[in-house]
Amino acid sequence: MKKELIKTTSLMLALGMSIACFASCAKADGNAMPASSAAPSETSSADSRTETKVSYTIENIRRFMVGVDDPVELPDGSKKVIVNFDNAATTPALKPVMEEVDTKLKTYGSIGRGFSAKSNISTEIYENTRDKVLSFVNCSYPDYTCVYVNSTTDGLNKLASALITSKKDIVLATRMEHHSNDLSWRDRCKVIYADVDDQGRIKYDEIENLLKKNKVKYVTVTAASNVTGYVTDVHRIARMAHKYGAKIIVDGAQIVAHRSFSMIGNSPDENIDFFVFSAHKMYSPYGGGAIVGLTDELGKHMPKFYGGGTVDIVTDNTVTYKDAPHLYEAGSPNYPGVVGLGKSIDVLNEVGFENISAHEQKLMKKMIDGLKQRKNVVIYGDTDDISDRVGVISFNFTDINSALLATKLANAGAGTRRGAFCAHPYVWRLMGVSNEQARIYEGCDSAKTPGMIRVSFGIYNTEEEVDEFLRLLDQTLENYRNTNHEGTDEEDFDPAF
Ligand SMILES: Cc1ncc(COP(=O)(O)O)c(C=O)c1O
Repeated sequence: MKKELIKTTSLMLALGMSIACFASCAKADGNAMPASSAAPSETSSADSRTETKVSYTIENIRRFMVGVDDPVELPDGSKKVIVNFDNAATTPALKPVMEEVDTKLKTYGSIGRGFSAKSNISTEIYENTRDKVLSFVNCSYPDYTCVYVNSTTDGLNKLASALITSKKDIVLATRMEHHSNDLSWRDRCKVIYADVDDQGRIKYDEIENLLKKNKVKYVTVTAASNVTGYVTDVHRIARMAHKYGAKIIVDGAQIVAHRSFSMIGNSPDENIDFFVFSAHKMYSPYGGGAIVGLTDELGKHMPKFYGGGTVDIVTDNTVTYKDAPHLYEAGSPNYPGVVGLGKSIDVLNEVGFENISAHEQKLMKKMIDGLKQRKNVVIYGDTDDISDRVGVISFNFTDINSALLATKLANAGAGTRRGAFCAHPYVWRLMGVSNEQARIYEGCDSAKTPGMIRVSFGIYNTEEEVDEFLRLLDQTLENYRNTNHEGTDEEDFDPAF
């Protein structure tokens, strides 16, 4: 539905209509050529003729990653191929993604606004990639549309700014959420939370109870946790949300590179209404991501984010907005981000999500079994049934501070993440840190606040890397345990976390 923010007299309205009619005639004469009529791409067809077809598999994908086997300089000046287990934060680039971006930049021109062959080609690629994104999550236009965003955080904030119309609106989130899917809502309306159980899984019954007792407008939930890797049964939650008249938003940041995702459930009430994700977590670090959402719903709202590209006509005192998705895409588009995203979807689909998931489960099991054999380890979440977990494992050792250990591991060539992973309420729960205890650390150096170490796998990681990680871990723990820390800076780090 078109948005009209018009503060005019009826005379001006009538004038505006005749001007709008004139404008649409001008457009038909050639202004802003529609994507479907863009000139065919000589370059891209020439490229595809010379391209040799390569099959991407879980076995060979490491060969197609940028930089993962290149030595990196460590703080002691030595050079080493590092083990990168920080893929939940961001993933390295895929070579085919990088090559696709390089190729498509040869015909880069302004998207949707230019008068040139390059502009037409870029616009066509940009618009067509929307269909690829929709089909990636098993839905299609016109029911759903794809809005390009900069990242999950950007998408969730845009969505929240559009959907929330009153401070009194109620959003139901969970205590498992990343801050992006918590704080985006907190400031704008009332947020109520379903808690997690002792193992850190979402309490589904609590969602239903909260829906029963409150007039919830939106339920927002992560598809997979960035702390424990738990995969949420989002279709079950969709059924509950719809039963009580709410819509469902899913934060897809941690699912898109790990499991196939479907907007469509087993019955219409299980369908997902909005889904948001980032491309840099799926091997395309050029920025970008998407909101996939119900076209009609997106069209009924608009984000509090204004600029070029979103409007039909602006006069001194009127603005007529375009429909979704363009309504949500103020400013010049991120073309490399969209090209990269499209190619990463192709490669991930070719590798196959069943293969990705099976590979990840193998790495998870090996790492968890290995960690369990080390003394003083605490592993968060269910370590017996890992079937509902993507490749994310968070842990601590009771006799060494996690920031110290992560730094020492990094110096030895093992990359992890350490901290509370932008999911503080969830991490505090898993660690048994109360809100009052957490507040003591306000304003503290983040290395001295409670935290965990997280390892997270990508499609290119290997079992040999798990072995190497455990070897470096043993070496680091042994050095630490055999050293007297009295009177050193290390004494300041609380071994309790
Ligand atoms: C579950 C989850 N949601 C949202 C985000 C935010 O993603 P981005 O930083 O790409 O905006 C992350 C990032 O780690 C995440 O793990």
